[in-house]
Amino acid sequence: MALTTHKFDAVIIGGGGAGLRAALQLAESGVKVAVLSKVFPTRSHTVAAQGGIAAALGNVAEDKWLWHMYDTIKGSDFLGDQDAIEYMCKNAAKAIIELEHFGMPFDRLESGKIYQRPFGGMTQNFGEKPISRTCAVADRTGHAMLHTLYQRNIRANTQFLIEWFALDLIRDADGDVLGVIALEIETGEIHIIQAKTTLIATGGAGRIFKASTNAFINTGDGLGMAARAGLPLQDMEFWQFHPTGIQHVGVLITEGVRGEGGYLVNSEGERFMERYAPHAKDLASRDVISRACATEIKAGRGVGKNKDAIYLKLDHLGEERINKSLPGIREIAKTFSNVDPIKDPIPIVPTCHYMMGGIPTNIDGQVVDTTGVVKGLYAVGEAACVSVHGANRLGSNSLLDLVVFGKAAGDHMAAAIKQNNTHKALPANAADATLARIARLDNASGENVAEVGDAIRDTMQNHCGVFRFPDDLAKGVSEIDKVAKRVENITIKDKSMVFNTARVEALEVDNLIEVAVATMHSANARTESRGAHAREDFAERDDTNWLTHSLFYKENNDLRYKPVNLKPQTVESFEPKARVY
Ligand code: FUM
Repeated sequence: MALTTHKFDAVIIGGGGAGLRAALQLAESGVKVAVLSKVFPTRSHTVAAQGGIAAALGNVAEDKWLWHMYDTIKGSDFLGDQDAIEYMCKNAAKAIIELEHFGMPFDRLESGKIYQRPFGGMTQNFGEKPISRTCAVADRTGHAMLHTLYQRNIRANTQFLIEWFALDLIRDADGDVLGVIALEIETGEIHIIQAKTTLIATGGAGRIFKASTNAFINTGDGLGMAARAGLPLQDMEFWQFHPTGIQHVGVLITEGVRGEGGYLVNSEGERFMERYAPHAKDLASRDVISRACATEIKAGRGVGKNKDAIYLKLDHLGEERINKSLPGIREIAKTFSNVDPIKDPIPIVPTCHYMMGGIPTNIDGQVVDTTGVVKGLYAVGEAACVSVHGANRLGSNSLLDLVVFGKAAGDHMAAAIKQNNTHKALPANAADATLARIARLDNASGENVAEVGDAIRDTMQNHCGVFRFPDDLAKGVSEIDKVAKRVENITIKDKSMVFNTARVEALEVDNLIEVAVATMHSANARTESRGAHAREDFAERDDTNWLTHSLFYKENNDLRYKPVNLKPQTVESFEPKARVY
């Protein structure tokens, strides 16, 4: 089949915060850049980020980027790479000022300075007391950021390929990445996008779990492409469960609620976080709070008819404060929980929220394999693992990660293009495997897409949740391997109903399974508890054997390991120590 080829200097896969920040950097340096997105860019999942973006501005109390760095390393349970964490925290204030100058409408203090609220694990003076470090636009920070970045990209003449679905990376015999094969959803046409540099910014994959705060689009498309291209996925056992997803529906209730003074209570009306984290209480890190909620429910102190939720109470903040700082939360609680939080508590449960793992990169966003940098390929944002979040991310460090490393990758790509301004020749068979993958969907005797997708989500939810048990993990591995076999045989059943959206849903399952398999195998293999990976049979952190990143390769389900970088660029290392809040 003759496919249309389009040539760009840079192609960015994904139109969320990370992709748009990188695109802006490239477009403003005169690079011919295209952003390819399966949804309209301002519908990317960044739009759903609520509580804010962290930076040690010190607008409310004295603050230092080094304190932010310490908190992030501690939050990561010492699995984060300290050079990358230093880079992120050091560049945070600059990133906020830049966003403000782009037109992002941050909330203000009386003084006119940018408003900041407390968030979990963010402290003053190396853990002494909670600090207000998170800048916000009410409880719609991601919405404001995404629209700001999109508008700046329009101004900078970034080209958008909207409702195009990226299928596979193009790699040549040297292992270099030369672009991507994509499906134009409206027409069904397959295109080749040839590029000197390719950036994966496809966001997370929280849809491998049944209960998730993630949008339906979060299917790990970039990770699927990377895995199929022979690249590793790093630290996939670490998934963050946000303590406050709305029961039954999963929609996020921001940690900003607790930052503003809300708190959790059990069926006895007890503020139980005082027992689990006596110092930080409801502003401990998310892994700690999610485990506390799950423990309370298991002990029979859950709320509701089935005693299987926890209450998030904020009525004491008063209607005026809630309407000013948390208007979106009030609306969401009314819509999805039938509760008005100015009067009643919101029933919540820990819900899958964020993937700490991803495609391994260096600080410049270059993808790094065990053999070194993969030429031509970059990754940023939740799809990447740089790794600043380690085994557990602190709330409001995600939006920061997007803009800091989005800019860094954009800068590096622009410089690389300047240095080597030619397109390498494409391999003759560039699209063969992709076309075969698509053709199999027409197999009349195959499996139903939705049923196989549900099997992935059920397996992950039942075997790889907040607490992990040895038998469940072992069974989860064999179950997910069986589901992977079924995925090879999925088909679009009812041809009369075939629109390209059905085709896209089927192709998304190809990506979900790569993420799910990597997660189950990596989780089963890591015999310790660290951050969000809490094993019943290995309850302690084991720095002697497991202060190490895992790298999962699709071929033969191969797991390898590489050391954590404990050496920052300019300051002393923070040595691993007991992590208490
Ligand atoms: O709770 C929240 O607003 C989520 C923020 C985050 O994940 O960074």
